[in-house]
Parts: sequence; structure tokens; C-alpha cells
Amino acid sequence: MAKEGVDMTEETEYMIDRNAGKEAVNVESPSNAKEMRAVVLAGFGGLNKLRVSKKAMPEPQDGEVKIRVKACGLNFLDLMVRQGNIDNPPKTPLVPGFECCGIVESVAENTQGFEIGDRVMAFLNYNAWAEVVCTPVDFVYKMPDDMTFTEAAAFSLNFVAAYMMLFEVASLREGMSVLVHSAGGAVGQAVAQLCSTVPNVTVFGIASCFKHTSIKDSVTHIFDRNTDYIQEVKKICPDGVDIVLDCLCGENTGKSLSLLKPLGTYILYGASNMVTGETKSFFSFAKSWWQVEKVNPIKLYEENKVIAGFSLLNLLFKQGGCNLVKSAMDKLLSLYEQKKIRPVVDSLWALEEVKEAMQRIHDRGNIGKLILDVEKSPTPLMANDSTETSEAGEEEEEPEGDNDSKERMPFIH
Ligand SMILES: NC(=O)c1ccc[n+]([C@@H]2O[C@H](COP(=O)([O-])OP(=O)(O)OC[C@H]3O[C@@H](n4cnc5c(N)ncnc54)[C@H](OP(=O)(O)O)[C@@H]3O)[C@@H](O)[C@H]2O)c1
Repeated sequence: MAKEGVDMTEETEYMIDRNAGKEAVNVESPSNAKEMRAVVLAGFGGLNKLRVSKKAMPEPQDGEVKIRVKACGLNFLDLMVRQGNIDNPPKTPLVPGFECCGIVESVAENTQGFEIGDRVMAFLNYNAWAEVVCTPVDFVYKMPDDMTFTEAAAFSLNFVAAYMMLFEVASLREGMSVLVHSAGGAVGQAVAQLCSTVPNVTVFGIASCFKHTSIKDSVTHIFDRNTDYIQEVKKICPDGVDIVLDCLCGENTGKSLSLLKPLGTYILYGASNMVTGETKSFFSFAKSWWQVEKVNPIKLYEENKVIAGFSLLNLLFKQGGCNLVKSAMDKLLSLYEQKKIRPVVDSLWALEEVKEAMQRIHDRGNIGKLILDVEKSPTPLMANDSTETSEAGEEEEEPEGDNDSKERMPFIH
């Protein structure tokens, strides 16, 4: 398992001034401040649509808590949001981010279960990448005493999604086999750890080759994403596998269905294949849609196969599933306290470094979770590049980039 937090962040000559970028923040009296810093997405598109701006300080409404944010999770979904690669995108400008953690700073009327000073993690329907957030208590969970803020920011979304897919949609049991794509990513590593809590589960992980050494102990078998994984899995399990977790979509849907054993479950929970260049590609979108196997229920009946879909954010924010999620979170926090699971953290980034962080996930460079650490200072280069004092104004369009350009990173975490 990767080491947590700051220890993992490799310092380079570019990271020289730990106080750079802090001057812009009103830190004299945080509780009386009228403004806060937040990452703002000015419009859908490339990295140039992201900036750090000052926003009005939010105040909690009935049933809400106000949280002084310490750290936020950066997910692949945030990259898709930036590109506008999602259904029914909200209007821009918006503050991205779906999860954060921090300390309760105030509690509105009719709000029960939380007190000022509680260490909490929370889901938000956008707006998480800010110094302060307000959110209904239905989406807030107390952190265990020994959980760090870095771990908390890396916990909620990936572990809840992995848990609900494995145990509530697919009913993972002893002796089963699971195939997971993007096995080195945040959800992939959560899936691998949760599978290890059940005896004798075989995990087939698929990931970019350079991650194999780091993650091979977390799965039973690991394959390069460019190999014919169907053939490789069938050499080991000729009958196929019990569960396929597919976050890629497109051609993988048909391949995955062909890998299922009778009574096996296929779960679609993402569409990473739609992301190719820096901005939304209608070609990739259409290709992915076109390649999806058209499902015939009669074939499912004949072959004894189960097809499912899972979207945690829709469950939480559109389908009233917060009690289901709370119950999954309680079980996960118990597993954490028993030291059976622990989030894998890839790297920590200042808010002003959000472009570089997002590029790292786009470049397939991450192993585990990327964290936006609200108290981390940006490098001077990043601060000059991304920090703005006003929300207005757009920059020039950047050309569509290619996906394999790790050299563009000004530094590697
Ligand atoms: N439905 C839900 O509730 C839910 C919740 C959380 C996440 N998700 C989905 O789960 C997937 C993983 O999310 P995550 O946040 O944990 O991300 P992640 O796996 O930590 O990071 C992204 C990884 O995805 C792989 N990848 C696959 N296609 C890619 C592409 N076109 N461009 C760049 N990388 C690509 C890369 O790993 P390799 O190169 O090693 O393959 C990359 O390192 C995403 O599809 C996300 O939308 C769904």
C-alpha cells in the first residue's frame, strides 16, 4: 500500500517557497471573513477554464453545517465535468468537486448530530473545492479519531462506490472472482482492498504497465490494459468471472459480458473511454456509445447473466439514497477502524495546482487518489499560472492535447 500524505510528495527544486500564494487569502480572522478561495470552472473545456478565485463566504441554511475545509478529493469524474462530458451539465461558472473533509465551523438551526469542532467528511453536489462549504447533514459523516484529513479526503467517494457495487449490487461472497479496470486508480484500489476482506476472492486487475510493480500485491492477477485481457483471464478461469466492474464503457461492455460466468454480474459505473484529448471529443463520445453492446433481455435470460449500473452521485443527490449511503459508510468506517482498509493516496496538491493535478489523472500517472490540500502552498510557478483574484474573464482556447504527455508536467509528485 502506498504511504499516506505529505511523505509521498517528492519535493523538487520547483517547490521552493512554502508561503507563496498565501498572501491572497484573508486568514486574519477566518470565522469573520467575508470571502474565501475556491477553484472555479469558468466554462466547459480545457485546463485553461480552471482558476482559483475569491467567492462570497457561504452561510449554512436550516439542516446544514458549515465546514472549514482541510482537503478535497479529485476524481476522474471531475475531469469529465471540466470537459462537459456528463449528462445534463450544470451552468458555469461553477465550483467543482464532490467530496471534502474538514472541521465544523458553525451549525444552522434545526441541525442535529453535529457540533462545532467535529472533524467530518462530506459529499457535495459540486462546490467542494473551496476553503469553506455548507452542506445538509444527510451528506456529512464524522471522521474516526485516528483518520487524517488526507485519508478522509481519499475515502468517501471511492470506498462507498466500491462497497455498494461489490456487496449491494453484486453480492460478493467467499470464493468469487472479480475483474476490475483501472485497478491502480482510487476506486480500483478500494475495490482490491474490499475484496481482500472476503476469504478466497480472486481479483483480476487491469492497469497501465508502469503501475504493476506498485499494485501487484493488492490483486491476484494483473494485466496490462493494452493486452487481450479476455484471453488472459480465460487461461486462468476458463468459465469466466463472477463480477466485472467496468468504468470504461464502449467496447469493454461487450468484452466484459462475454467474460461473465452464469449468474455473473456486470456493473457499468463510468465511461472513462470518452476522455481522449484535453477537451470533449464528440468522436470519442459517439464511438463509445456506438460500441456498447445492445442488451437483449432474452439473451440475458438464456445465458443467466445480470447487467447493472451504478452511480453514487445520482443515488445521493437525485434518488434520495442518503440512508443507504450512510449505512455503507458506517460499515466502511468500521472496516477502517479494524485496519482492514486504508485509502491509497497518490499525491497532494494546492488549490492553485489543480490544473497540474488534473493533468496527472488525465495522463494516467496516478496510483491511488489525488488530493487538493487547502492548506498546502503552491509553487511560485503554479501560483502565477493559475491564481486569479476575480472570477471574470476567459482565457484563450487551448488546442486539444494528447493523452500521453507526462513530460508536460512541470514537476512530478
Ligand atoms: N459510478 C460511480 O459512482 C463512480 C464513483 C467513482 C468513480 N467512478 C468512475 O470510476 C472510474 C475511476 O475513477 P477514479 O476517480 O478512481 O479515477 P482513477 O482510476 O484514480 O484515475 C484514472 C485512471 O483511469 C485510467 N483510465 C482509463 N481510461 C482513461 C482515460 N481515457 N484517460 C485517462 N485515464 C484513464 C488510468 O489508469 P490506467 O492507465 O492504469 O488504466 C488512470 O490512471 C472513472 O470512470 C469514474 O468516473 C464512478
